[in-house]
Amino acid sequence: MDVGQDDDLRDIEERAYKAGALKHYTIDAKREFAEGPVAMAIMTNALYEDKYPLGTALARPLIAEKVVEVARKEGCDAIAHGSTSKGNDQVRFNEALMALAPDLMIIEPAKIWSMNRAEEIEYARRHGIPIPNIHSRFSIDDNLWSRSIEGHEIDDPNIEVPEDAFKWTVPSEKVNGSLILEIEFREGLPVAVNGEKIDLVSLISLLNKVVGAHGFGRIDHIENRVVGFKSREVYEAPAALTLIEAHRDLEKLVYTPLEYRFKKMIDQTWTDLVYSGLWHEPLREELDGLIRTMNRWVSGIVKVKIFGGLTILGRESPYASYSEDLVDYVGGWYPSEEEARGFIRMHTLHSLTAYRVRRR
Ligand code: ARG
Ligand code: SIN
Repeated sequence: MDVGQDDDLRDIEERAYKAGALKHYTIDAKREFAEGPVAMAIMTNALYEDKYPLGTALARPLIAEKVVEVARKEGCDAIAHGSTSKGNDQVRFNEALMALAPDLMIIEPAKIWSMNRAEEIEYARRHGIPIPNIHSRFSIDDNLWSRSIEGHEIDDPNIEVPEDAFKWTVPSEKVNGSLILEIEFREGLPVAVNGEKIDLVSLISLLNKVVGAHGFGRIDHIENRVVGFKSREVYEAPAALTLIEAHRDLEKLVYTPLEYRFKKMIDQTWTDLVYSGLWHEPLREELDGLIRTMNRWVSGIVKVKIFGGLTILGRESPYASYSEDLVDYVGGWYPSEEEARGFIRMHTLHSLTAYRVRRR
């Protein structure tokens, strides 16, 4: 399934037939992926444990859905996949398969034969299925939204990630000059860059390219996995980090303080549900609805600079609940000095009453 990963799809098809497949499908799901789960992740500012933009986690349920469609078409009675017992992916795949096709058997050979990664690679080699070098060193999973790198020497959380693990980003020391981007959002989703309207798939690919080339988008994360242990995870996600920063800034311009605080809570709940492989938990879809409703007001333009990091240079929105008049001077419908004094007295009354009692 093509969710925007760097793989050579024709090579994958060839390998499938070499491995004994009778029939192979290539499914282009880039647009569905971008406009479905990725769009939700943008509106949700989804960063698991404040760091990981969820790329892998977002794609799994969609991959399972497409696999089930093919299984139905072909009249299959079982679905097999390659997860081990150590990853989050087994939870995400199986949750989705059990939700969408409870009658189909799930077969996980790596688990049945209790193989680890090294043994899987060895097994494939022995059966004439070549594994590209980079994949035999690290476990890499990439798509439009992020590139995940894990395993091998970076399993030691104290070892610096070797430069050749990275593909989408250059080290910031190698960058000359800064990059300025004006990102326009409509109802929570990016629709244009530097004044040019562009579809979501192309917009994300463009940002991955230009922002990554300016040295921004690397993540090094000690991550709490669903399956009971911490792992060291490295990601590249230039577009995701840029869009989420910009989107969150715009939300802050638009939302009331109550909306902003409430949204942060539901954002986190949504993100945890998706990370932990509970895509079909009904609450996830209910939150989708609320998150979309709240994003109706998140339109405007955010100007960012990429230079050794990301800086927001400015923002504007027709729905900004920001008033320069209120910031600048006391007048109009702003409370008087006397009212302000009264407000402070009431506002601090609970706290100061308790403070005085405890001081006695
Ligand atoms: N830790 C991330 C997650 O659970 C990335 C998993 C990537 N999978 C992989 N096979 N490298 O979503
Ligand atoms: C897996 O073995 O399922 C991949 C690793 C992960 O989910 O993080």
